[in-house]
Amino acid sequence: MIQIDRRHFIASLGGAAAVKLMSFEAKAEALEAYMMAQLNNGTAQPKRFPKAAEIEAQIETRNYRRGVGNLFLTTQPIGKVKRLEPMPARPMFLDFFKLRMQQTSNHVLQSANRAMKTGMTEEIILACLLHDTVHALIKVDHGYWGAQLYGPYVPEKVAFAIRYHQALRFYEDKEAGYEYPDLYRNLFGEDYVPSPHIQADYKVLKNHKWYMEPRLVTVNDLYAFEPGVVVKIDPFIDIIGRHFKNPKEGLGNDGSPVAHMWRAMATPDNPL
Ligand SMILES: [Fe+2]
Ligand SMILES: [Fe+2]
Repeated sequence: MIQIDRRHFIASLGGAAAVKLMSFEAKAEALEAYMMAQLNNGTAQPKRFPKAAEIEAQIETRNYRRGVGNLFLTTQPIGKVKRLEPMPARPMFLDFFKLRMQQTSNHVLQSANRAMKTGMTEEIILACLLHDTVHALIKVDHGYWGAQLYGPYVPEKVAFAIRYHQALRFYEDKEAGYEYPDLYRNLFGEDYVPSPHIQADYKVLKNHKWYMEPRLVTVNDLYAFEPGVVVKIDPFIDIIGRHFKNPKEGLGNDGSPVAHMWRAMATPDNPL
């Protein structure tokens, strides 16, 4: 029987926050790879990452697609989705954060916490707090969906940071403190080539005056996890209050071009 050093295993995947984002299958695969590495070499970190073709071959082994939003399925093999708490009549961002975005809340709070501790601007802190929360609605191309969801309510720089953190996740910038994460080698395959729109955006971003906005989201992203630290929303309430313009009618009732996106998160059980 192989002994698993749980902490070491979790750290090898980029920390518990990173693990939380992984599907059941991805975790099982990572564990298998880790155990294989241990068999070969006592305490070695997993050396083998899947190839993109192997990731592709898994598609038909699932009964869902990986890009679907967290609210719309459970990826546990045995398990059912839960009944959701009703939303208030005029929901504000914090209502959605607490009642619909729980699956990413720990991860984004830790990112925002790290940004706050390292003296980032309020825009960066807010971008870190929001950066992956759109996973509740949809995961594929999440930076672009997230920027659209928040665009009407936050400063342009915040939406810019959310939009492009997705592209910059694929490109190292050691000078800024961002290394390509093993989590991505596991999720996409070690030989994965980013899509043409990601490549094109990266090309433009490199010389953009706001390059560091999304870059700092990636710097504060996966490596934000500190074992045993649970971050509360309280330290960020003032920043949200200063920079997030909640519509008085409530998100989803405000007639904005993205109101339906909020409604879809409020009532994901509606059949049509
Ligand atoms: Fe992200
Ligand atoms: Fe993230």
